[in-house]
Amino acid sequence: MEKKLDKIIDSISNEIKDLTSINDLNQLKGKYLGRKSVFNDLMKELKNVPKEEKPKFGLLINQAKQNIAKMLEDAKTNIEAKMIEAKLKSETIDVTLPGKTFNAGSKHLISQVIEEVEDIFLGLGYTVKEGPEVETDLYNFEMLNLPKDHPARDMQDSLYISEEKLMRTHTSPVQVRSLLENTKQEPMKIICPGKVYRKDDDDQTHSHQFTQIEALVVDKKTTLADLKGTLLFLARKLFGEEREIRLRPSYFPFTEPSVEVDVSCYKCNGKGCSMCKGTGWIEILGAGMVNNNVLEAAGFDSNTYQGFALGMGVERIAILKYGIDDIRAFYTNDLRFNKQF
Ligand code: DAH
Repeated sequence: MEKKLDKIIDSISNEIKDLTSINDLNQLKGKYLGRKSVFNDLMKELKNVPKEEKPKFGLLINQAKQNIAKMLEDAKTNIEAKMIEAKLKSETIDVTLPGKTFNAGSKHLISQVIEEVEDIFLGLGYTVKEGPEVETDLYNFEMLNLPKDHPARDMQDSLYISEEKLMRTHTSPVQVRSLLENTKQEPMKIICPGKVYRKDDDDQTHSHQFTQIEALVVDKKTTLADLKGTLLFLARKLFGEEREIRLRPSYFPFTEPSVEVDVSCYKCNGKGCSMCKGTGWIEILGAGMVNNNVLEAAGFDSNTYQGFALGMGVERIAILKYGIDDIRAFYTNDLRFNKQF
């Protein structure tokens, strides 16, 4: 009997060594301590043992069982510790690995110039307005004093979507929308930045899509002198406090009189250089006093109200300020270009 017990202990000690999982351990537990364990046979044998020896063997069997239970318990603790260790190992973070770099975006140069111009005008008490890029012929042309057969429509090659709808060719229709919205006919000072579209073949200086900023002031006492003062202020903020401006007579159907605005060359200070083609002046935008027909079409009495308007190309301002030689650089998304600003 004692030998048999020793053998059992021996065999379980061997088997326990190879255990790697709690599952295997439970199986082993069943084999040695379960209902159909090896001890069952021993218990049967115990019946044949002489009466006075029974307590001794009973005790030995119990001790062996306790021994095994202890061994299994130790093995369990061991396996669990090993599992935790393995898990920790697989989850360790190597803090010395290089991190992921995120490319921070930055504002496109066009957005920057729009914001710069917005800031200048906001400082003068203007509000920013927006309008749709798909516009009606009525607002884009007709109500801006450009009836259907007007030759000046040819100044802007248009992208028509239908007979009555087109991609707006300029931001001036926002003037019309803002006038119509102003039903109380209160004094107004607005600017409208936005994309405009032309049926142009793209090249170094032309683009089928570009950006304009429109400004409109309407009040009962608005004069050309107010326009001039505003233009000078704008030119100096954009191109330097030493700048002067020059107004040349021009023509736009929606303004009368109309002017083309030049700024004194900021490269040569007006002396004449390659930048200003020797003239000392650089053209920056178009402007004028709002044509009576535009005011009347929107329901404003042109005997009571006057206004001025101006429209500038954002790309042109950026090209001049930053010496860019190809308008396509703004939309071809070459990061080497975009990141310079
Ligand atoms: N809408 C004109 C264009 O796209 C620009 C312009 C000129 C707007 C004079 C104005 C203005 O408001 O007064 O060519």
